[in-house]
Amino acid sequence: MWGGRFAEGPSAVMREINASIPFDKALWRQDITASKAHVAMLGAQGIVSEADAAIITDGLERIAEEYERDGVPEDWDLEDIHMTVEARLTELIGPVAGRLHTARSRNDQVATDFKLWVRTANERALSALGRLRRALVERAGEHAGTIMPGFTHLQTAQPVTLGHHLMAYYEMLTRDAARFEAAQQRLDECPLGSAALAGTGFAIDREATASALGFAQPTRNSLDAVSDRDFALDYLMAASQCAIHLSRLAEEMILWASQPFGFASLPDTLSTGSSIMPQKRNPDAAELVRGHAGRIVGAATSLMITMKGLPLAYSKDMQDDKPPVFEAAGLFDLCLAAMTGMIAETTFRPERMRAAAQAGHATATDLADWLVRQADVPFREAHHITGEAVKLADSKSCSLEELELSDLQGIDERIDERVFEALSIEASVASRSSYGGTAPDQVEQRVAEARARLDAEAGDSE
Ligand code: ARG
Repeated sequence: MWGGRFAEGPSAVMREINASIPFDKALWRQDITASKAHVAMLGAQGIVSEADAAIITDGLERIAEEYERDGVPEDWDLEDIHMTVEARLTELIGPVAGRLHTARSRNDQVATDFKLWVRTANERALSALGRLRRALVERAGEHAGTIMPGFTHLQTAQPVTLGHHLMAYYEMLTRDAARFEAAQQRLDECPLGSAALAGTGFAIDREATASALGFAQPTRNSLDAVSDRDFALDYLMAASQCAIHLSRLAEEMILWASQPFGFASLPDTLSTGSSIMPQKRNPDAAELVRGHAGRIVGAATSLMITMKGLPLAYSKDMQDDKPPVFEAAGLFDLCLAAMTGMIAETTFRPERMRAAAQAGHATATDLADWLVRQADVPFREAHHITGEAVKLADSKSCSLEELELSDLQGIDERIDERVFEALSIEASVASRSSYGGTAPDQVEQRVAEARARLDAEAGDSE
C-alpha cells in the first residue's frame, strides 16, 4: 500500500512490531461504516463519480457480510484493519477501490473508527449502569428499615439501615453515569476529513460525513483531531472511577458473605465451590470485580503514559491506544453485569445484621445525646459518662439497653427511665432523620426520588 519509495520490504521483526491487525480488527464495523460515509460524500461532491462511489459502497457491503460470516483475516503484511479492508476491496472490485482513500488518511480514519467504537462503549456503560443503579434502588427500597451496624474504621459506629448503605452506592454510580455522559458529549465531533494532519485540498463536505456518522459537528483543528485520544482516556477514566466504586462494593459483599459477618449470602449463580473443602462457597465473582478494577485502572494508566510527551500530530505510539481500551471495556462490561446480578439476587440476613448492631454498643452516641438533651449535660461530659456505661455493659456482657436503671443511675444520677427509649437501635436509626440521614423515612424518600430519576433517564434514552 505504501511501498513505492522502498527498495526492500520490511524485515520480519518490522512486520511483527508494526502489525495492529491482531487487535484492531475489532474495529472492522466502524471502519466500513466510516468508509461508506466517506465515499458517499466523495460521490456527492463529485470528487469521485457517483458510479464509482456506488461500486465502492457495494464492495464495502460485501466485505461486511464476509467478516460477519467468516471473521476478519489476519495478515501482518496488511498491518491494520484499514489496509485489510482496502486490500479486500481491491480484490473484489479492482483498481477503482484505490479511489476510496482520496482526501483522507489512515490518521483521520483510525481516529474516526476508534471514536465510533468508544461511543458504543460509553453507551453500553450507561445502560449497564442504569440496570445496576435500578437494582440498588429496588433492594434499598426493600430494606429501608433493615438495621445493620454502620462502621467507621470497620469498627461498629452507629446503627444505619441497609437501604441507606445501598443508596450510598447508588449515589456513587450516579456520579459515574454523569462522567460517561460528559465523555459522550465531548466525543461528539468527527475527525474524518482532517486527513494526515493538515486537512485536504479536495472540496470535501465535513458536515456531511460528521452527520452521516452521528456526530454533532466536525472537529475544528486537523492537528488536534488526528492526535487526540482524550475520548479514549475519558472512557478509561470514567471506567476506572466506576471500577473503584464496584471494587469497594465487591469488598463489602465479600465481607458480608464471610461466616463471621454472615450478613448476606451471595447467589449460587455467582459463587463457586472449593475442590478440597466441601463446605466452601467462595465469592469469586465479587473478588474478580475487585481484582479487575486494578486492571482497568492499569489500562487508563497505560494510555496516559502512551500519550504523554507525544508531539503533534500522529505518532505510531498511538497505535498502542487500542489494547488497553478493548481490554478494559471487556472487563468493565463484565464487572457491571456481575455486580448487577449480585445486588439483585443476594439474600440479606436482617437478623444477623440486627444482632451485630446490637452487640457493638452502636447506640452509645444516643445515650450521650440523650444526656445532652434531657439532662443538659455538656457533650464532652456526656461522652465520658457514656464511656463508663459501655465499660459496665462490657463487664456484664450485655448491651447498653440491657443495663438496669439502677446501674445507669450509679454512673450518673441524672439518668432516668426515659433513657431506654433512646437506647434501642430502632429509636437510634429513626432519630437520624436529618436530610440525607439513615432514618427509614429519609431512605424511603431518597429511594422514591431515585426511582423517578431512573424512570426519566430510561424515557430519555428511548
Ligand atoms: N494502525 C494505525 C493505528 O492504529 C493506523 C494509523 C496509521 N497511520 C500511519 N501514518 N501509519 O494507529
